[in-house]
Amino acid sequence: MDSILIKGGKKLKGTIRVSGSKNAALPELFASILTDDEVILQNLPRLDDTRASVALLERFGKSVKWTGRSSCVISAHSKPSGEIPYDLVRRMRASILMAGPALARYSKVRISLPGGCAIGMRPIDIHLEGFKKLGARVTLKGGYVEMTATRLVGARIKLRYPSVGATENLVMAASLADGKTVIENAAREPEISDLCAMLSGMGAVISGAGTARIAIEGAARLGGVKHRVIPDRIEAATYLTAAAITGGDVVLEGAEPSHMRAVLSKIAAAGVRISLAGDTISASASGRTLKPVSVRTAVYPGFPTDLQAQWMALMSVVKGDARVVETVFENRFLHVAELRRLGARLSVCENTVRISGGAALSGAPVMVSDLRAGAALVLAGLAAGGVTNILRVYHLDRGYENLVGKLRRLGAGIRRVSG
Ligand code: UD1
Repeated sequence: MDSILIKGGKKLKGTIRVSGSKNAALPELFASILTDDEVILQNLPRLDDTRASVALLERFGKSVKWTGRSSCVISAHSKPSGEIPYDLVRRMRASILMAGPALARYSKVRISLPGGCAIGMRPIDIHLEGFKKLGARVTLKGGYVEMTATRLVGARIKLRYPSVGATENLVMAASLADGKTVIENAAREPEISDLCAMLSGMGAVISGAGTARIAIEGAARLGGVKHRVIPDRIEAATYLTAAAITGGDVVLEGAEPSHMRAVLSKIAAAGVRISLAGDTISASASGRTLKPVSVRTAVYPGFPTDLQAQWMALMSVVKGDARVVETVFENRFLHVAELRRLGARLSVCENTVRISGGAALSGAPVMVSDLRAGAALVLAGLAAGGVTNILRVYHLDRGYENLVGKLRRLGAGIRRVSG
């Protein structure tokens, strides 16, 4: 298994380009199921998760051709199998996002329940409740959810929580339903607005994207589209945090600052000088003394849960006390034990981590438990004295395009070791 070796202590300096958003790209790849016409996606990040989604699409009768570094053409070539098996769902929870388009298009879908489903149906209950409202028959058998509907019918759906995935799944299904669907308490993340823009390009009539009330007028058929995926706000913020933690100066091109207001204001509050010019964000931390800043994760437009781990790494080295409160996911503190191995002073109490900052981190072997935990360990490694050896880096390959290459370009002492 590959690992990443980091020799910490170098200030990052230079310019890199932000990749396309993973979390927008995944539902948008699956949205191609809604049509037999050609779908062209541009600014698609080359990641293990996008490759896994392409493999799923191929299983669903699609032909996917990369036509450049970051564009692909998706067309229909055979009849789909209609089943999404456990080995694919286990590897990528986002494969649940295929359920909506597949149900709408083929009237039937069988999808394995995601793993770690100890509390019954809970992790996808909001998706399933919504599908039922649209007229699907949902049955649970042998670890699979089977859904059938001769025709989906528009409905008023009030989500019990603004789940990102459920909102996306239901918007896609409703785009091919009979009549009007209104989703209330919908998630407002920019990735949802981007998906709605793509669906509108395919002929769906959608209003209210980016608000808590999305209305979708179902179409009898959707057509092809050429769509450009928005920039990855989480990747961008991870590199800004890297500038902060190393006391460096980093310029990001191809970013979308308007999607990053909560994060940019926290980074600025910590004392990093941020300047914006169009799609360019410059972060300057050199020669500046950073201050502790607490964060509380929340649904968009709040501080993203996908940046909580990275923020914890930063606050570990900034003098003073800070807190990170996680409100979106239960049990999303798996990185705490590994950050402690590097010398971070962290204590966990329920959904809050108290950080006693100003620690002098020192390199050690650490293990990645999930994508964003991995990003936090990389950041801590960049700031640590000595060598940090990061194991299980396949988690990082799921969501950061060319991570090692981009950090090397900024002058980091980092390399990937195959093994
Ligand atoms: C998406 C993102 C992920 C991000 C998360 C929250 C993708 C591919 N992933 O994940 O990076 O961290 O949004 O911003 O876009 N929940 C239920 N029942 C459901 C659905 C969700 O209880 O049916 C709970 C989850 O367990 C979690 C919370 O709701 O505690 C948020 O989940 P959700 O917004 O659905 O996140 P994802 O779409 O899975």
